[in-house]
Amino acid sequence: MASAWWKSSIGYMIYPESFKDSNGDGIGDLGGIISKLDYLHDLGVDLLWIGPLFDSPMDDNGYDVRDYGKINPLYGTMDDLKRLFSEAHARNMRVLLDFPINHTSDEHPWFQKALSDPSSKERGYYYFKKGKGENLPPNNWAGFFSTSAWEKAGEEYYLHIFTKKMPDLNWENPELRKEIYDIARFYLELGCDGFRLDAVTHLAKDLSFEDSEMKPDPNGLVLDTSKFSNRPRLYDYLSEFREEVFSHYDCLVVGEAGGCISPEESLKLVEKPGAPLNMVFNFDTVWNNGNFDSIKKKDEEIFTDVFALRRNFMRWYEVLNGKADMPLYWCNHDHPRVVSQYGSVAYRNESAKMLFLTLLFLYGTPFIYNGEEIGMSNANYGSLGDFKSDRGTMNSVEAYKKEGYDEETILHYLNRTSRVNARTPMQWDRSENVGFGSKPAINKVNPNYLEGVNVYDEMCDPYSILNFYQYAIALRKNPAYADAVEYGRLSYVDPNHPDVFSYLHEGGTKLMVISNFRPYTVYFTFYYEMKDVLLHNYDGVLLKDHVITLRPFESFLLVVR
Ligand code: NOJ
Repeated sequence: MASAWWKSSIGYMIYPESFKDSNGDGIGDLGGIISKLDYLHDLGVDLLWIGPLFDSPMDDNGYDVRDYGKINPLYGTMDDLKRLFSEAHARNMRVLLDFPINHTSDEHPWFQKALSDPSSKERGYYYFKKGKGENLPPNNWAGFFSTSAWEKAGEEYYLHIFTKKMPDLNWENPELRKEIYDIARFYLELGCDGFRLDAVTHLAKDLSFEDSEMKPDPNGLVLDTSKFSNRPRLYDYLSEFREEVFSHYDCLVVGEAGGCISPEESLKLVEKPGAPLNMVFNFDTVWNNGNFDSIKKKDEEIFTDVFALRRNFMRWYEVLNGKADMPLYWCNHDHPRVVSQYGSVAYRNESAKMLFLTLLFLYGTPFIYNGEEIGMSNANYGSLGDFKSDRGTMNSVEAYKKEGYDEETILHYLNRTSRVNARTPMQWDRSENVGFGSKPAINKVNPNYLEGVNVYDEMCDPYSILNFYQYAIALRKNPAYADAVEYGRLSYVDPNHPDVFSYLHEGGTKLMVISNFRPYTVYFTFYYEMKDVLLHNYDGVLLKDHVITLRPFESFLLVVR
């Protein structure tokens, strides 16, 4: 079977509002993105995933769409988007649009019509249900953002698994599905190369709308993802979407697969040929350090579980390899920064390089998150108000306060886990506004831009994280190594090592990665012959009597025999 173009692509996610401002209003925009295409091209990136660009009241930073036919004026115009497509294509780069189709904004005309006219066809585009009684929602479901999944509107309640300003769309309704297909077609005709389908595994709901039987929280609510994740009808909806739209274009469709999808379940959605999607992002390798929901834990208890990481990457590889394509990523706009999560700010340079090398040569299409390539780390903000740009984070603050946590504890926890950490302005240089183009209006800049964590300083330093990324990507694209990664057999070396993540690809070339995930020295037994050290984040190899001494976060890419 011919390999699809995305199999050898290097992806890069851009979070538009924090990336680069071209018109001086303090918010990143399309002009800013276009002005950085050469930078991205030089880095070696050739597949951009751009966070949602549609018109939105920004209750959830663009994931709440008010008008799919209009570009958010904060970001530019439809002409700017067309220019982005053509400028990207001129550099052999492709562009995926982030397409939220599980919900709209409550300000979308469909929802407004649904509210104002209960007999309208648009009422059927959403889930409206009667409450259980006086001021009681239809069931005990909680949404993802720490509230009930229902909001009262007139006589009835509507379903929203994210914020109350994001009513869920009713995918059982064929007219609604047709509307969505028309929008997708419009953007594919305009020149986009595919989509990242937001929250896609939640499209199908348990239409009985019965209570969850899981134990409710003190408010009587349960976040029971089985009620709205990976349900059987999902496959039907997405198959129809493929038949009606995607199959007519050479496009890449990546689904965001939350709600604990298993690799086996995902195969139904992505197995070649003819599956509805091309790949899914799973969440299994994002929180393998006990950091999720960890407000009760001390920092010392947050410890990378190398066993879990290895197991989770391998579970997916074993099921999908040869049958389906898959993406690789450490973090995106929904997670803390990876250097803070699995690396160490004290060893920024070493750990950022180690993490990238480890990910880049695994099986799959790697996605870098903007700023990762310069080792950007968590925001380290001083007050809860600094997180106000994210409704999800602020709802959790209210919930923790109700549970009795003091502000200091919550702040410490947010600095460790909140997704706002990933949304601070991209650090382009060491000037006052980090080369953002204006004073950033949404999130405060991380002051570490003055400590060399910025693109300009890293460009000037041959040993920087940025230059390592560029070199590593060039190696990953070298056909001799790309073949080993894409078609060689992947296995782990010393799969029981508590600290070292090491793997081997046996293709034409035998490629091995050895990575120490600890901020201290560890030892690794090695019975191969080193033919070549292709990439390394330290000087000199400390090998004696078949034992490698690995310094903090030391990592190699080797050709072995
Ligand atoms: C997933 C997106 O990545 C996240 O940022 C958003 O809040 C939810 N979906 C809801 O659209």
